[in-house]
Formats: sequence, structure tokens, C-alpha cells
Amino acid sequence: MADFDATLQGKRILLIIAGGIAAYKSLDLIRRLKERGATVRVVMTKGATEFITPLAAGALAGGTVYTDLFDRESEQDVGHIRLAREADLIVVAPATADLMAKMAGGHADDLASAVLLATKLPVLVAPAMNPAMWAHPATQRNIATLLADGIRLAGPERGEMAESGEAGTGRMSEPLAIVAAVEALLSGDNGADASAKPLLGKHVLVTAGPTHEPIDPVRYIANRSSGKQGFAIAAAAAAAGARVTLVAGPVGMADPEGVSVRRVETARDMLAAVEIALPADIAIFAAAVADWRPAHEAVSKLKKDGSGIVPPLHVTENPDILATIAHRRDGRPGLVVGFAAETDDVLENATKKLSRKGADIIVANDVSPANNVMGGAANTVHLVTAEGIESWPQLPKDEVARRLVHWIAGRVPTKA
Ligand code: CTP
Repeated sequence: MADFDATLQGKRILLIIAGGIAAYKSLDLIRRLKERGATVRVVMTKGATEFITPLAAGALAGGTVYTDLFDRESEQDVGHIRLAREADLIVVAPATADLMAKMAGGHADDLASAVLLATKLPVLVAPAMNPAMWAHPATQRNIATLLADGIRLAGPERGEMAESGEAGTGRMSEPLAIVAAVEALLSGDNGADASAKPLLGKHVLVTAGPTHEPIDPVRYIANRSSGKQGFAIAAAAAAAGARVTLVAGPVGMADPEGVSVRRVETARDMLAAVEIALPADIAIFAAAVADWRPAHEAVSKLKKDGSGIVPPLHVTENPDILATIAHRRDGRPGLVVGFAAETDDVLENATKKLSRKGADIIVANDVSPANNVMGGAANTVHLVTAEGIESWPQLPKDEVARRLVHWIAGRVPTKA
């Protein structure tokens, strides 16, 4: 047998296998975890036993496989409460849409869900399902709930489904990718791994939310941005160890923990706050800045004069904050990240914005009303750089933020 670094030496993993065709990969996962020194205990749902046998899983894991909440022997021997406690990490792979729905709803009508409800351990979930099931709003809602509960995700990936040959997002991550996520999570828990805080010592500047451009003391031009994505990025950057300044337009969200927040109203205020906050190692412009503002702000409320003639609204262009900062000769942040909110020709327009605005990365998202991005909880993004385009599956905004921050951290230029 090949030698492996014992990266998981002494670690106890409880692997919960749910019922999906990807369960066959879990057998390989057991082997990979054990090769690295982990001990693996296995729980299988009833559905899982339709795809692989407890005997095979037990032989690879080297122990009993637990399947039944009401099995007298195993409940007396170990019991679901002990299963929920006697490990360093729980891995659910494959996690079906049904099991994730049960987790999100707090159900406990079988051994797997009872263990997951009873545990205080970190839980890593590797979803596997048909792309339509993954994309369904119910699944996306459940994922958002699970992430908010602190559960970590590995995958799913894009690819062809084993059963239908259909392409889309929903394929379970490969066992080695899940092993890497396990290693990262456990080393992060030990606090020993600097890669868990890849932005330590960096200053990250984030803009978020809409801007309001006053017409008169009571009216303004605005847009539908909720600020959720930008706030989530600021929080994720702080969690990754950065010192974070968030310049936020008018939104009703609380300051993310550990982030220094400057609240502004107009595009011009936002530009001024950004300039004051510089220098930064990374600047991420997630705000939906109003492109135009009324040319003249009336000091008093505009009144109807009874003639039926509508007062003209003259507008003028706002400064482009991203382009201004990205084109700075002095004090340009090492990495400048812009967003592109598009409804048509998303990738083409985003690629044009990359060069026009002078950004290093453009995060493109399709904000057509059908996608419910503006104000919604999920986002589908494409990362556009000079090297090419990387597309991610639809994910909750918090997860987009977490992944984005780690993706960006790997691209920060080292200072000369
Ligand atoms: N942006 C900015 N200042 C502006 C307008 C946009 O900083 N006055 C930034 C946004 O924060 C985002 C990027 O530029 O990072 C692209 O914004 P977007 O609204 O997609 O594009 P626009 O520049 O407004 O172009 P268009 O309206 O033609 O799509």
C-alpha cells in the first residue's frame, strides 16, 4: 500500500451515508480517510443500503455499521447520543436533498437524522442530487438554513449525473476533495493551520448596497440592491483574518462582527469614504452604485403646480468608484475586484467591464428578475479574469462570499 501523510492521525470521523447513487464513492472515501490515519465509524440510512451494503462499508471501516435508531443491540452498545458525540467531525456524504431537508427542519425519525440533531460536532455536508433538485428553491432554502447553522459544504460539483447522464450542478465532490475539506476543517479547529486565516494582516475594503441620489428632501433615485452579498463578503473577509472596512450605502443590515463600517448615502459620499479608507491590499466593489444623480437637488420638496405639466428630471453621471480606484497610479490596491450586474450577454458584458474599468477580477452575476438575485438569498456567479472565466453553481450568498474570499486570497500579489 502506498504511504500517505498521516494528516488525520488520531481523528475520529463519523461518516453518514445517505441513499443516492453517489454512495458508491463513499466506500472510496472511507478508504481515503483511513489511509490518512483517521478512524471511521459509519451510519447508513435505509436508502443508502439500497445502493451499497453495510457489510462492504463495515469491512472497509473495520467495524459495525449503524443503520437503525431502534435496534436494541446497537442502541445498547453505542446509542445515537454516543454516536453524536464520540467523534471529531461528522461527514454526510452523499447528503441527499431529503436528508438536508430533515436537517434543516430538525427532524429525527431515523438514526442519521437523530444523530445530526443530537450533535454539537462540526458537520461537513457533501450534497449529491439531480441538478433540478439542487436548483429547486426548497433545497436552496435548506442549504441557506444549514449554512446559517454553521454547517460546512463540500461541493456539489458540475458534471454529468451518474444515473441520467444529465449535465448540471449536483454531482458529489470526489472523495479526495472531501478529504481535503475534512483536513482543512479539522486543522482549522486546531487553530494550527494558517490557511484557515489566509487574509491575516491584510486590509480589505468592501463597498456594498445601493446609493440614494436625492431629488429633493423627500425623494431619491435608488435601485433594488439589498447589500447582502457585500455584507457577506465583508464578514467572510473578517473571518479569514483580514482587517475589513465596509463602505455601505443605505441598507437596514447590522454591522458584521469585527468589521469597521462607514455608512454613506450617495455615490459621491461613497467615493469619498473609499478614498479615506485607502490604502488597502484588496478592494472589492460590490455596491450597486447609482449611475446617475439628479443634476440639481431641490432644497424644498417639489410640488405639483396644478398645470399637469411634469417637472423635468435632469440627471448627470456619477463618478465610477471602481474605475477611479482601479486606474489610480499611486495607492492602487494590490487586487481590485469589481462586480457586474447584468441582465443580458452576462459574460460578454462582464469581460468588457474587466478592461474598461481596469479591474483584476470581475464577479459577474445575472440579475434578471427571474433569478431573484437582488434582494434574494442566493447568487450564481462567474469569475472573469484575464486568464479566463470560472463559473460557480448557484449558492447561498454567504457561501459565495466564503468561497470568493478564499479564491481571492490565493491571488493577492505578494508585496515587492
Ligand atoms: N461601480 C462603481 N461606481 C459606479 C458604477 C459602478 O464603483 N458609478 C462598480 C460596481 O460597484 C461594480 C462595477 O462597477 O463593481 C460594475 O457595476 P455595474 O452596475 O454592473 O455596471 P455599470 O458600471 O453601472 O455599467 P452598466 O450600467 O453599463 O452595466
